[in-house]
Amino acid sequence: MSGTGGLESDRRLAAARAVIGERPLRPARASAEAYAPANIALVKYWGKRDEALRLPVTGSLSISLGDLGTRTRLTPAEADRVVLNGVALSAEDPFARRLSGFLDLFRSPVAPGFAVETVNTVPTAAGLASSASGFAALVLAMDALMDWSLPERARSILARLGSGSACRSVRAGFMEWRCGERADGSDSFAEPLPDIWPALRIGLVVVEAGPKPIGSGEAMRRTCATSPLYAAWPATVARDLTETRAAIAARDLERLGVTAEGNAMAMHATMIAARPSVCYWTASTLDALRRLRVLREEGVAVYATMDAGPNVKLLFEQSAESAVLRQFPNLGIARSF
Ligand code: PMV
Repeated sequence: MSGTGGLESDRRLAAARAVIGERPLRPARASAEAYAPANIALVKYWGKRDEALRLPVTGSLSISLGDLGTRTRLTPAEADRVVLNGVALSAEDPFARRLSGFLDLFRSPVAPGFAVETVNTVPTAAGLASSASGFAALVLAMDALMDWSLPERARSILARLGSGSACRSVRAGFMEWRCGERADGSDSFAEPLPDIWPALRIGLVVVEAGPKPIGSGEAMRRTCATSPLYAAWPATVARDLTETRAAIAARDLERLGVTAEGNAMAMHATMIAARPSVCYWTASTLDALRRLRVLREEGVAVYATMDAGPNVKLLFEQSAESAVLRQFPNLGIARSF
């Protein structure tokens, strides 16, 4: 077991050092701070072809959530310390352990540890992608602390090594994560789409803010290994990526929404069919979907997407905001542009 674990961390370390290159692992300032936005996938990442390097089975495409995200301050220290939303975490805390494992990629004799102060403006572990913005902010802060000025694709690759979807959070706007083909992951990173869509809104229906019963990593593994529906997933994603790129280029909300909603439903179908089944939905999730249908029957253009959690995210345009708020009075509204 430890043999495999050691091999996996060696491969991760090699992948990280390959993108850092000759740049020194030496802090250039006393501390550094960075912000990264959360992102919501319109076409989902669901399934890894390489666990250690977090390489996906397919590409995916997301939109960032503006000022909903993570701000992180990084300070060199003798040993790691993690403060999350103002609370110091014990070294055994699962989140602190995961961060420390990631920080292993950046240690050196002059920087044996790091103090990480991180503040999320999205509920942690509620399927609102706080791990994506968290790892992206950490990479951006590390780049600033070490004064590396890494190219964006290098930042995206490093963020991917922390959490797959984090590779899409290294900048704002629409981001497409290229699946890549190489075994070392050097061609698997996110790139921005040139399009901006200022009228687009993302509504956050938070039905449960607590931690989820099963993490996305384990849910993905189980789905890939046991779900009879997973075989259909890669072709679904390929079609949905083409549709979504075209919908964004045309600012066509109906085309975007129908595709994103169908893609999320297909992803949940693959996991519901896993053995044992993974179902993140609660009665409140289904009630939110019912209210969405009511709105659509009234002629309001609004669509849903859902990640590895019970919460529902809505896609609509500014012109529909008041109608959507009537049906979802507690809606959080994010805008990317
Ligand atoms: O980055 P992870 O390992 O937490 O996976 C995220 C997976 C989904 O949020 C369900 C989909 C996605 O593309 O963000």
